[in-house]
Amino acid sequence: MSQKIHVAVRGGSIAVHVAGDGPPLVCIHGFPLDHRMWAFQEPLADVATLVMPDLRGFGESLGAAPIESIRQLADDCAAVIRAIAPGERVVVCGLSMGGYVAEHLAVHHPEVVRGLILVDTRIEADTDAARAGRRDLATRVARVGSRIAAEAMVPKLLAPTSDQRRRLPIAESLHRMILEADPATIQQALAALADRPDMTEAMRAVHVPTLLVVGEEDSITPPEAMRSIPKVMPQASLAVLPGCGHMTPMEDPEAFNRLVRGFLSGIPGAS
Ligand code: MLT
Repeated sequence: MSQKIHVAVRGGSIAVHVAGDGPPLVCIHGFPLDHRMWAFQEPLADVATLVMPDLRGFGESLGAAPIESIRQLADDCAAVIRAIAPGERVVVCGLSMGGYVAEHLAVHHPEVVRGLILVDTRIEADTDAARAGRRDLATRVARVGSRIAAEAMVPKLLAPTSDQRRRLPIAESLHRMILEADPATIQQALAALADRPDMTEAMRAVHVPTLLVVGEEDSITPPEAMRSIPKVMPQASLAVLPGCGHMTPMEDPEAFNRLVRGFLSGIPGAS
């Protein structure tokens, strides 16, 4: 059972779902999802307090000022950590866009981060082609609504070879989350994603313990993209999960949760 709190951020407040006991584990969702994507991580609540924000504009965080940048979303998450665990450093886990936010947190707010779990994400900026794709999707969302984002994205999120019986309910849940996402927020987030800087050099200065997890069949942030991270963060270890696409925490929660437990148990005071 999670409890919902509201945390003040610049230009409003955001909703944060909190569940469990123990040191905080901040879980930052991907685009254009919300805290519900972490439902399969509930079993981790026996070793950590799961702190799951809905980034501004997403989920139950409607009403804050618009998204301007990934850095702004990281500032919001720093405010969440200061509210939940004043004066503490916590482990931050982010998937894809949530990973970009976690990277900015580690670089710009190192005083609140004691460990990183970067999931199905990358440290490089967008290519020109990726930026053009985001502009195109934003135009279509403005015209048609969130439905077009769900139709464009859901087929790419899950491993093509995964078992249909397992895949279908996850696809339905992702479809629902995207359909319910605010179209204006989707457009703002697409612009922030396209404008985000390359973090390769900045991540060299991040020395906290780091776990990298990626689905073997992730076509959005493939394993090759994540293999460049240990080149600048030698302490980072990479796990590639077979049978998973871009949504490893949902596609193979048992393996994902096992990796997270193992990682937390290696950090003094993190579980
Ligand atoms: C996500 O899952 O958050 C997005 O796919 C991120 C991206 O498009 O770069």
